[in-house]
Amino acid sequence: MNQVYWLILVVLIHAKILCHAQGITVTKYNTVRIIRTKTVSTTTHFTTSRTIVYRTASGTFTEQVSTKPTATDPDFKTEILDVHNSLRKKHQVSSLVWAPELASRAQNFANSYVCNGQLEHSKLPYGENLALGYNTTSAVLAWYNEVKLYDFNNPQFAANTGHFTQLVWKNTSKLGCAFIRCGQYYGQYTVCEYDPPGNVIGKFSENVLPEK
Ligand SMILES: *[C@@H]1O[C@H](CO)[C@@H](O)[C@H](O)[C@H]1NC(C)=O
Ligand SMILES: *[C@@H]1O[C@H](CO)[C@@H](O)[C@H](O)[C@H]1NC(C)=O
Repeated sequence: MNQVYWLILVVLIHAKILCHAQGITVTKYNTVRIIRTKTVSTTTHFTTSRTIVYRTASGTFTEQVSTKPTATDPDFKTEILDVHNSLRKKHQVSSLVWAPELASRAQNFANSYVCNGQLEHSKLPYGENLALGYNTTSAVLAWYNEVKLYDFNNPQFAANTGHFTQLVWKNTSKLGCAFIRCGQYYGQYTVCEYDPPGNVIGKFSENVLPEK
């Protein structure tokens, strides 16, 4: 008899949580090991070996931040600067110089990120590229990969090539980046600030050069 009561209680608690989840952005069920079951879509959810961890009406959900650096990791700095500069070299433009001021502003911004799968730009007065779910090198390569969509015969801004054009923008000279780590689902969140900012309307032909 006792077991039946327990079962009913568990079912009721579960039903209440599911019902609650329909109307809010995030419901956290449990924090045991997360197994990714689907990519982000309108009905994304995670399962664990025992139960659902997150489920939301909108398909977005929030994960705990697992790493939030207070200062720039030197390995991160070297890696992200080198990838930028080797890609810039391919496009005939000079190397960026690391700017600690930009990196620390990027870190402050990164540290304010809520791991919810949305990307929104800061209000900093620089060019800015954001990535979620890529490691350091892959983030830069994902931005660069837009080169495939850029029309060098019709040089202009487009939303689907803006990361690439900022990355190789000739008149940009300084770079500062930062990251945080979300959980196993979203992975790394990466922010780069560029100064002077690129993507200046009317200046594309002289700032975005084709591969050598
Ligand atoms: C970064 O991600 C890429 C693509 O998933 C992978 O091939 C590479 O090994 C990763 N690098 C590191 C250091 O984990
Ligand atoms: C380069 O950037 C500086 C500072 O923003 C700006 O004054 C200058 O006009 C830019 N030059 C080119 C060629 O875009």
